[in-house]
Amino acid sequence: MTHPDLQALTLAVLETAKRAGAFIRQELHQFSQSDIITKEPHSLVTYVDRKAEEIIVQGLRPLLEDAGFVTEENTVDQNRKSIYTWVIDPLDGTTNFIHRIPVFAVSIGLLEKGKPVLGVISHIMAEEHFYAWEGGGAWLNGNPIQVSKNRNIGESVIATGFPYRREHIEELVATLDKLIREARGIRRLGSAAIDLAYTACGRFDGYYEGSINAWDVAAGIVLVREAGGIVTGLHGEPEPTFLGHILACNPHLHPGLSNLVGRQ
Ligand code: IPD
Ligand code: CA
Ligand code: CA
Repeated sequence: MTHPDLQALTLAVLETAKRAGAFIRQELHQFSQSDIITKEPHSLVTYVDRKAEEIIVQGLRPLLEDAGFVTEENTVDQNRKSIYTWVIDPLDGTTNFIHRIPVFAVSIGLLEKGKPVLGVISHIMAEEHFYAWEGGGAWLNGNPIQVSKNRNIGESVIATGFPYRREHIEELVATLDKLIREARGIRRLGSAAIDLAYTACGRFDGYYEGSINAWDVAAGIVLVREAGGIVTGLHGEPEPTFLGHILACNPHLHPGLSNLVGRQ
């Protein structure tokens, strides 16, 4: 397989993300309570997540022959064996969507031999499209973005998320307890993709989460790295896509933050 032009590919992926986003936006006031299915306690899904995933898969298939797919809603065969793998969360922030809180996103990442090299995150209701490709920088609606320059945790705003499973709440609360004392502010938006996009453009100084899936973070990892940030596992592991936990922040804050969140 010849090496794809990542910039051209990113712009094509962006069009697919926008198409799926338009569908999700159109359905926001159409779905009813009877469309909501409980996947597991606290984790919900609707036909909107599934249909959006189908739109995305259909858009991506012709872009890269032989690429595999890892997708949250399983509407396509799951396969990580190819050199390239699309990693897709068609609707990140489903609980927000169901409650009609306008904070949810389409998240599409591309891995090359397991490493994220392209990421597109569309914050649908804000009409903010974040995208990045390896070596090409990180962008928001055509403008370059960078992580914050803040060196001080006491002046920083840190985002996090809480898992649907409630088994290890004590550790999570212990970490939050430390951070609430140290940081300027803590935010929980309900969309890991938007948390990472906001970290990439410096609105958040950092983001961490202790229980997360590859489709939540693959695109955002590229965005934060290309925006000058550091992305690791909670204990500094270098490649967190499939690790299940993540810390993303500006380079100045990484040592201090990994000390604070590392034992989660
Ligand atoms: C969830 C959101 C949330 C995060 C959860 C994710 P979903 O994804 O990103 O912010 O805290 O860990 O599962 O279910 O809305 O796609
Ligand atoms: Ca998600
Ligand atoms: Ca989702």
